[in-house]
Amino acid sequence: MEENITAGVARTSVLIAGGRALATNSFINEQLKISEKLDESLIPYYENVYKKEPFYSNVITEKVASFDPYAYFFCCTKESTEILLDQTEEFLNMIPTKFARNKLVKYLFSKKGLEFSTIEESRKYCIEQCTSIQTFSIVYMDSLTIRIALRNILIDDFFMKNIKDTSTQQYVILGAGLDTRALRMPFAEGSTVWEVDFQQTFQFKEMVLNKAVKVIPPISKAKLHRVASNVLETKQWISSFGETGFDKTKPTVWLLEGLVMYLTDEEIAMLCQEISMISASGSSIVIQTLGKQGFMSKIMSSLVPTPLRDEFKSASDKPCNYISKCGFTNNIENLTENDLCKRYHFDFARSFTSMDCDSVIGVGFKP
Ligand SMILES: C[S@@+](CC[C@H](N)C(=O)[O-])C[C@H]1O[C@@H](n2cnc3c(N)ncnc32)[C@H](O)[C@@H]1O
Repeated sequence: MEENITAGVARTSVLIAGGRALATNSFINEQLKISEKLDESLIPYYENVYKKEPFYSNVITEKVASFDPYAYFFCCTKESTEILLDQTEEFLNMIPTKFARNKLVKYLFSKKGLEFSTIEESRKYCIEQCTSIQTFSIVYMDSLTIRIALRNILIDDFFMKNIKDTSTQQYVILGAGLDTRALRMPFAEGSTVWEVDFQQTFQFKEMVLNKAVKVIPPISKAKLHRVASNVLETKQWISSFGETGFDKTKPTVWLLEGLVMYLTDEEIAMLCQEISMISASGSSIVIQTLGKQGFMSKIMSSLVPTPLRDEFKSASDKPCNYISKCGFTNNIENLTENDLCKRYHFDFARSFTSMDCDSVIGVGFKP
C-alpha cells in the first residue's frame, strides 16, 4: 500500500506547518496593530486568508511573528485536521487515567475560553464547529508555536543574509517537509534550491501548493528541484543533484531543520560527512536538534508526555559538534531557545512548558 502524508514521520511536517500558519496570522495581526495600512506584499494573504480566517496565537508578539503565506494552505486540508487531532489524542492517552486526561482537556480548553470535560466532547467540537486553522489555534500548545516561530525567524534571517550577499546561489533543504522558503524568499535569478524528503511528503506538498500559488504568487526567482529520497540514501540524491546542475566547487547553504532527531547519532555523522564532501569553501550549514531536555522527557514519558516520542532517535544540546567534526569549523554558533529569545528580545518565561521539546540550533561555515 502506498503511504500518504497521514502516516509515518512525513506527517510531522504538517504539524510544524500548523505552527507557522499561526505565526503568520499573528504576524498580520501584529502589523495591523502597528499600522492600519499593510505593506503591499502582504495584501494577497490578507485579502484571501486573514480576512476570512484571522486565527492566531496570542503568545506570539511582533518580535517573533514571521511570515509564511503558504503554511495556512497545508492546514486547511482534511489530512491536517486528522493528523492534529490524532496526535493530540495520542498525547493525551499517554496520561494514565481517564480522570487525569479529562482534567487536562478541561484545563487546556479553558485556557482558550472553551468549556469541555472530555476528550470526545472537545474532538466533536473541533470537527463539527471549527475550520482546520481554528482547530490548530485551539489545540496547538503555545510553547510549541513559540518554538517554531523562533527557529523560523532565525533561519529566515540566515537565508536573507546569504541572499543579500549573492556569492551563494546553491541552497539545499534536507527533510524539507512543507518548508516553503523556495517560494516565499527573494532568491535571485540564477539561484537553485534543492529539497529532499519522502515521496508522500512531496505529493501532498505539490497538491496543496499547485492551488496556493494561484492565490499567493511566489516571489522567489530560484529554480527548484524536489528530490524524493530518504536523506540517508545519499548516493541517490547526490547523483540527482549532479544531474540538475549542482556544482560542488561552489558554496552551498545547507539546512537540516526538524530532521536529525529522526536519525541516530551514527546516521547524522554519516550524513554530515557526505554533505561536507560536496561543500566548497564558504559553504554553511544550519542544523536543528532536539535538546536533551526533550529527549529526557521521552525517557520519562509516563511522567512527562512528549508527542511524537516514538520517532525520536537522537538529541543533542550541542548540534555544532556534528558539523564541526566534519569540517564546518568557522564561526560556529550553538543557539538554545534562551539564546534566541535574547536575540529577538522576546520574553518567553511564561510561555514554555515541559510538555513538548526544546530545540537547539547549530550554525557553522566551511573554511
Ligand atoms: C518535523 S518535519 C520538519 C520539516 C521541515 N524541515 C520543517 O522544519 O518544517 C520532518 C521532516 O523530515 C522528513 N524526514 C524524516 N526522516 C527522513 C529521512 N530519513 N529521509 C527524508 N526525509 C525525512 C519527514 O518526512 C518530514 O517531512
